[in-house]
Amino acid sequence: MSGKVHQLEDLASRSRLDAGEAQPALLAVIGCPVAHSASPSMHQPALDACGIHGRYIRLEVPIGRVTEALQQMKALGFVGANITVPHKFAALDACHHVDEAAREMGAVNTVKFIDGETWGFNTDGPGFARAIEEEFGAVLKGLRVMIVGAGGGAGQAIATQCARSGAQRVILVNRTIDKIQSLSERLSRRFPQTQFNALAIDDVQLASVAKQCKLLVNTSSLGLKAEDASPLEASCFASHHWVYDTIYQPPRTAFLRLAEAAGARVGNGFTMLLHQGVLAFDHWYPGQAPLEVMRAGLRSVS
Ligand code: ATR
Repeated sequence: MSGKVHQLEDLASRSRLDAGEAQPALLAVIGCPVAHSASPSMHQPALDACGIHGRYIRLEVPIGRVTEALQQMKALGFVGANITVPHKFAALDACHHVDEAAREMGAVNTVKFIDGETWGFNTDGPGFARAIEEEFGAVLKGLRVMIVGAGGGAGQAIATQCARSGAQRVILVNRTIDKIQSLSERLSRRFPQTQFNALAIDDVQLASVAKQCKLLVNTSSLGLKAEDASPLEASCFASHHWVYDTIYQPPRTAFLRLAEAAGARVGNGFTMLLHQGVLAFDHWYPGQAPLEVMRAGLRSVS
């Protein structure tokens, strides 16, 4: 999806930002690049459905300029913003206050301006928990989970969420084992009730460990291209599994196709994208997020 993209310079004044528009910009997704972001397709219909006179815009912000962008938005009277790649980590330092979930996930994906201060939240982890509830009718508490490609930002957020929700065991799997060892050690210390293990993606025990898990999650970027292979081999999947891919485009990655072939239940990242958005809207306008309106908006573009 693509659409109008504002630049940092457009924040110079309200008259420049809102020129030719019927409604003032109140919210934005900040990224680089940001033209592909699906967030406006769920948040604009949500604003409209709630009768809020305002626009949700795309704002392209160069690396290193997130603090500046947030300060300018605050000065212009924005309500808040979503933060996407590559700014989620830098946004942590740009906030005056960061909630516990965001601090533990090491990333902020939602900000709200309150009384001249910037508050940071992370709805990716909680959005994942809601997605698992919607897809499989289950909570993370007590589950054994394998997270494949846990070396990136999504893996860290989901691993942290699993621990916060009381998962029994979390197996972190990555091509580069160094990237997940410190995460595994840190989360083990912070959440002693959850057992963490780090495993290389080519470990000979991978298939047998996967079979001991209930939920398998792909958080790697492998699958974004239609021709990508699955990060896990067919021998890792079984019919008792719930298999979730954080990728939603394409809707059926090789990872999910192998899982389906093994008889597993599957879900894709559409629900996580939706629920992180719903939770963000609830930070801005508590209790007002119109779930089905947002779902329909997102569906229209993905
Ligand atoms: P981020 O989410 O921080 O942007 P990323 O670079 O997109 O991170 O990578 C996310 C995850 O996808 C990482 O765990 C990465 O594995 P490495 O840490 O080994 O790089 C994983 N990944 C990317 N391409 C992969 C591939 N071809 N095979 C297996 N894992 C891959």
